[in-house]
Amino acid sequence: MVHGLVTSPIRPLVAVTGGAGFIGSHTVDLLVARGCRVVVLDDFSTGKRANLARWADRDRYGLGGSEPSVEVLTVDVSHGLFAALAPITAQHGRIDRIVHLAAQVSVIHSIANPLTDERVNYGGTLHVLEYARATAVKKVVFASSAAVYGDVAELPVDEAAACHPLSPYGMHKLASEHALHCYSSVHHVPTTALRFFNVYGPRQDPSSPYSGVISIFADRAGSGRELTIFGDGEQTRDFVYVGDVVRAVVGAALTDGADRAVMNVGTGSEITVNELARTIVELTGGKSTIRHADGRAGEILRSVARVDRAERLLGWKAQTALRDGLANTLRA
Ligand SMILES: NC(=O)c1ccc[n+]([C@@H]2O[C@H](COP(=O)([O-])OP(=O)(O)OC[C@H]3O[C@@H](n4cnc5c(N)ncnc54)[C@H](O)[C@@H]3O)[C@@H](O)[C@H]2O)c1
Repeated sequence: MVHGLVTSPIRPLVAVTGGAGFIGSHTVDLLVARGCRVVVLDDFSTGKRANLARWADRDRYGLGGSEPSVEVLTVDVSHGLFAALAPITAQHGRIDRIVHLAAQVSVIHSIANPLTDERVNYGGTLHVLEYARATAVKKVVFASSAAVYGDVAELPVDEAAACHPLSPYGMHKLASEHALHCYSSVHHVPTTALRFFNVYGPRQDPSSPYSGVISIFADRAGSGRELTIFGDGEQTRDFVYVGDVVRAVVGAALTDGADRAVMNVGTGSEITVNELARTIVELTGGKSTIRHADGRAGEILRSVARVDRAERLLGWKAQTALRDGLANTLRA
């Protein structure tokens, strides 16, 4: 699906790795709404062309016509960016900014396949940074994760807390953050790392066993099926709506500030999985039952972000109440 880009000296040209995924496709939507031209680089391992389908129908969305805005390239970021982007930059000028979201996204898969995770999640970041260094990209924004922390004693978790990741996924997110810091310090590539907490919203894929709990519950409750909670359900998470997350991502990408910053992206509110399940059942008309199964070994019991740094550095704050975000997710 290639829609072509107009050559424009004014509209920033932003590359979004993983742009066909859940968070990526919402990022693309917001970048275009903010007047950017976007190049998506995705290998479609978990991303879907359907997530970007709106850009195939330019008349309907009114952003295309004489000003097409999105180009989609099938690329594995762990093979590098130079060859894939060369035809684009030859025609439209250099990439101004990069949002790096492409990743192997399963913690469980990373434990079983640490070297694959390293190639994609750490290697992919190095390839992005090498491209940014060589072509003087103005900002690289990286999707890090609350998984960098591991099990922390003090909550809400502060960005200054010691990080002891409990999976290769978390290890490679943390290593990528160090790489961002290094490239910023040594090569003057401005970078920002955003540690996402539990992101939810429309287009999150419920079909994968590794998916976020909300997409699975929403999918099952939508058709009156039973919801399974692992453990007693009193484990907590900080669930942040995708619309809020992409405001942080795009804000960080389009600003020249917040260089070398690492920020939590969460709501600062802790919700139990029991509370979450009850709310979803209520919003879907109360037909589903809830059952409890054995807890999962190694599961973190509580997670909640301290969020004042993002507010200070980006003027960002989550705004969507859980009920509203869930209602949007269920409607989609
Ligand atoms: N969803 C969450 O709650 C959450 C939490 C913390 C961090 N993150 C991070 O946010 C980012 C986006 O995650 P998401 O939830 O949208 O998942 P997603 O699976 O929908 O998106 C990941 C995208 O990356 C693409 N991709 C994977 N490997 C690639 C490769 N080698 N080359 C090019 N593209 C590749 C996939 O096809 C997909 O489109 C990831 O970096 C993830 O680790 C997500």
